[in-house]
Amino acid sequence: MRIIRAKDYDDMSRKAAIVLGAQVAAKPDSVLGLATGSSPVGMYKLLIEWCKNGDLDFSNVKSVNLDEYFGLTADNDQSYAYFMYHNLFKGINIDIKNTYLPDGTNPDVANECARYDAVIDSMGGVDIQVLGIGGNGHIGFNEPSDVFKLGTHCVTLDKKTIEANSRFFNSIDEVPTKAYTMGVGSIMKAKKILMVVNGEAKAQAMLDSFFGDITPRVQASILQMHPDCVIVADDAALKLIDEKFPGAVK
Ligand code: F6R
Repeated sequence: MRIIRAKDYDDMSRKAAIVLGAQVAAKPDSVLGLATGSSPVGMYKLLIEWCKNGDLDFSNVKSVNLDEYFGLTADNDQSYAYFMYHNLFKGINIDIKNTYLPDGTNPDVANECARYDAVIDSMGGVDIQVLGIGGNGHIGFNEPSDVFKLGTHCVTLDKKTIEANSRFFNSIDEVPTKAYTMGVGSIMKAKKILMVVNGEAKAQAMLDSFFGDITPRVQASILQMHPDCVIVADDAALKLIDEKFPGAVK
């Protein structure tokens, strides 16, 4: 596990885009595991810029996303399919047919979970998995629990997650209460992990995840066991780590 310090959101985005861009440049047919949320948006903007400049080519890239809200159609502007299209896919030369997300409109949970696990398996391994982190330490929508779940599952979202994500909706009542998410087992199978983290609201989760015990109560803590995990975090997100373990992150 390596934590790379960034000054602020822009610096984090640039450093993370360099890691992801290098992956695509070195392996043009990379399989990217992708995340939504505020954290990766700046990185995605840079990737779009570098693709438009001709520095990056996504034409042979495939992608699988971490999660999708249960019940939302892809054309709903709150769905993660909509988010990915507008924040990344439409700006790069990826073939949209090679981009995959769980289908939030499939009401048959067992069927959808099996289908999405088969999609992930058919990719032959995720080369790099982008992650954000929840204030409660979640990765994907793997919420604090007594267990780490291996495969795709349908989760009831934590109260804290619903509160945090209500900023994107007109009111908290509109936030879906359930979501499909890739399991921690699938996340851990990715060859490389790239986590992007910014802001003081993530400082406790950062401390607990990377300087605490490995426990499903803090799902991101499992990443301590990953052989190639890079975390790009800004000063604000590192605040509590800096206080408790001065010098631990250069
Ligand atoms: C998004 C996802 C979530 C977010 C996390 C942080 O696909 O799976 O785990 O990465 O909730 O969200 P932001 O970046 O909005 O703070």
